[in-house]
Amino acid sequence: MKIDSAEFVKGAVDWEGMPTRDWPEVAFVGRSNVGKSSLINMLVHRKKLAYTSKKPGKTREFNFYLINNRFYFVDLPGFGYAQVSKEEQKAWADFIEQYLNQRLPLRAIIHLVDSRHPPTDQDEDVMVFMRGHRVPYIVALSKTDKLSNNQRAQSVARVEKKLREVGLEVPVVATSAKTGRGKNELWSEIGPYLD
Ligand code: GTP
Ligand code: MG
Repeated sequence: MKIDSAEFVKGAVDWEGMPTRDWPEVAFVGRSNVGKSSLINMLVHRKKLAYTSKKPGKTREFNFYLINNRFYFVDLPGFGYAQVSKEEQKAWADFIEQYLNQRLPLRAIIHLVDSRHPPTDQDEDVMVFMRGHRVPYIVALSKTDKLSNNQRAQSVARVEKKLREVGLEVPVVATSAKTGRGKNELWSEIGPYLD
């Protein structure tokens, strides 16, 4: 995908705060610190479009980025961020679920899973939630630059196995925001949904 423009449009903390102009949207979900914001930057070749940090829990809003004046990338708040109260975690989880279920312009959901670890219980919850969902679902393994080729292949196989157990057969793309691995593959998965 050729990127002509990428701009931050707004950060929404509630339903009313979301853009009303309904360009097609791709949402990035995953636990806090898994690399959602970094992956967005990698995909659009901008180092600092989406705010990234070593400190988990950085993205506390639904951040809308307009790409090529034609579609949105939506950086969702990370789930499972331990430093906030259970109530707040639950409130965000409910809001994310509402967004994924009811947001009409949503065209694809990219779920980031850390390639270095087995999918967590919360990752599995996302997978189960996505089974039978109307919106196409893609899994992106993050931070694969930290693995050997062998480990990377094992990591992909591990997630594919988990997805099969849940009853899903969906694309799994090994990515690295650091090296750019998986960029073209991910774009070719998303591209068809953006027209
Ligand atoms: P929240 O906004 O807290 O939900 O986190 P996030 O999922 O947006 O993660 P973010 O992109 O901020 O990345 C978290 C940390 O992981 C940062 O220190 C990044 O530099 C690092 N990181 C992200 N992706 C990669 C990757 O592909 N490779 C390596 N080596 N580090 C990465
Ligand atoms: Mg983030």
